[in-house]
Amino acid sequence: MSKLSIQCEVFGADSIALRSLDWERNRFDIEFGLRNGTTYNSFLINGSKTALIDTSHLKFQQIWLNKIKEYVNPKQIHYLIISHTEPDHSGLINDLLELNPEIEIIASKVAIQFLANQIHRPFNSRAVKSGDQIDLGINQTSGIHHQFQFISAPNLHWPDTIFSFDKGTSILYTCDAFGLHYCSNELFDKDAEIIAEDFRYYYDCLMGPNARSVVQALKRIDELAEINTIAVGHGPLLHHNLNRWVNDYREWSKQRNQHENYAAICYISQYGFCDQLSQAIAHGIGKAGAQGQLIDLQATDSQELSNLISEAKAVIAPTWPSEPDIDLQNSIGTLLAALKQKQLIAVYDSYGGNDEPIDSVASQLRSFEQKEAFKPLRVKEEPNGKTYQEFEEAGTDLGQVLNQNKNISMMKSLNNDLDKALGRLSGGLYVVTASQGKTNNLRQSAMVASWVSQASFKPPGLTVAVAKDRAIESLMQIGDRFVINVLREDNYKHLLRHFLKRFPPGADRFSGVNILENVAKGGPVLTDALAFLSCQVKQKLEGPDHWIIYAIVEQGNVADAEARTAVHHRKVGNHY
Ligand SMILES: Cc1cc2nc3c(=O)[nH]c(=O)nc-3n(C[C@H](O)[C@H](O)[C@H](O)COP(=O)(O)O)c2cc1C
Repeated sequence: MSKLSIQCEVFGADSIALRSLDWERNRFDIEFGLRNGTTYNSFLINGSKTALIDTSHLKFQQIWLNKIKEYVNPKQIHYLIISHTEPDHSGLINDLLELNPEIEIIASKVAIQFLANQIHRPFNSRAVKSGDQIDLGINQTSGIHHQFQFISAPNLHWPDTIFSFDKGTSILYTCDAFGLHYCSNELFDKDAEIIAEDFRYYYDCLMGPNARSVVQALKRIDELAEINTIAVGHGPLLHHNLNRWVNDYREWSKQRNQHENYAAICYISQYGFCDQLSQAIAHGIGKAGAQGQLIDLQATDSQELSNLISEAKAVIAPTWPSEPDIDLQNSIGTLLAALKQKQLIAVYDSYGGNDEPIDSVASQLRSFEQKEAFKPLRVKEEPNGKTYQEFEEAGTDLGQVLNQNKNISMMKSLNNDLDKALGRLSGGLYVVTASQGKTNNLRQSAMVASWVSQASFKPPGLTVAVAKDRAIESLMQIGDRFVINVLREDNYKHLLRHFLKRFPPGADRFSGVNILENVAKGGPVLTDALAFLSCQVKQKLEGPDHWIIYAIVEQGNVADAEARTAVHHRKVGNHY
């Protein structure tokens, strides 16, 4: 199968989907959990005039332009609706304008400003906001009148996002929102179970940190006539299980909005690696069940910015360009002025090339001697998976602090007798290890575990319960491999002591322990372990605070046939 291809299919009256299929887009390339590739979807809608919604990623340049020409003479494209200006959807605007400089670009006001910097040529444009409409007229063959109504959906997940609703077909075009990174030839969401996990993962990474904005957008969607299909910008189009997906967004965003304490994670879109780095922090915060709020410093209006900053429990800021333009300069001023004494503050490198030094930004932010949310996150070379791992772990540590009171009250809330009875369940003692990537981009982690249990004979399988905020959880997605190190009764205490230490974000958890590399697939084997089991994750069941991970055991070995497994006896069930 070729790595890049384009699928073109009619998916509604007078509506053609052109899906750029990127089968092998790697994990950590953009969002964190990519394992099934992704797609960049664009759409052609023909009334009496023709509109194109979004373009594609630059890497599809030739094949995408050729495909478009098979379906329409570019000179006849009247409108190009740009849902937002992220390069994976807007990468070919210049090429299209080359073919037809008369196209009118329809986008939000912010998107049009961004585009002016992105494409460096004059273009016709019209800024739209919620309630605005454009009329494509009636398609002569179908008789359907295509009329677009727009919805502003800032922060989903870019600040400049708009949704477009075609009243003629009841199709809602949302681009990133409701999307997922999943590449297949299946145009629609026929089998919900196949894509559910990726759908959730994508929400957690990109939409969850903007849960407030999701709720706002859902309210606006609720005002529309009944929706027939959601045509997303990534993955299969949502049609067969539409209610499920919309309700998922509603429910997950409601859960996230229950927290009063949120961390404001500021970023500057289109500057260095700021966008992705801020998402990694936000994802980490979300893993701990706490709330993050991503804020684009360039695109958030000053009143809103001031409110969001002053009400936050923690404020995370990026390094900014040493010579910011006037708008950004104003936003930075607003940010600094809105900081409060009791907030937790932290700063991260944007890696934008001409950043203000991180220590100088940190000291400007801490003008009231506020506490550090985490140590400055420095980036010395182009960010890779290892960098994102460090940022995510810093986010999780902060999330745990934000949720501290809630977690303590949960610990206390268990009924006493029940608690003691639960404590009589026992388990073995294990160290789970996982490792991915190579040398400079090696991502490794480890945790002590006792909630491990065999779960099948054929094939041999087991479950591990992994707390949602564990660092290693990010390396235990479906398809990932890990290793269970079985600890021995007569020699385990030093390993427990070591792995139960509190490790700073990005720390090497194996420094100071003896390990055997390249013995087992998936992670290091501890030299002092009694046995190891090399496993591959097959399924994840979501519990309230843990993921129950079911894995197939692919390989195993015992070092000492005489020794016994260390067992963990507890008195109460509300701790490990
Ligand atoms: C005896 C014992 C058993 C544990 N078992 C589990 C477990 O089964 N699952 C889990 O998620 N955490 C378990 N933990 C907690 C983690 O091992 C520990 O908090 C973790 O190493 C911290 O890693 P983190 O930085 O990723 O949070 C256990 C802790 C102890 C002391």
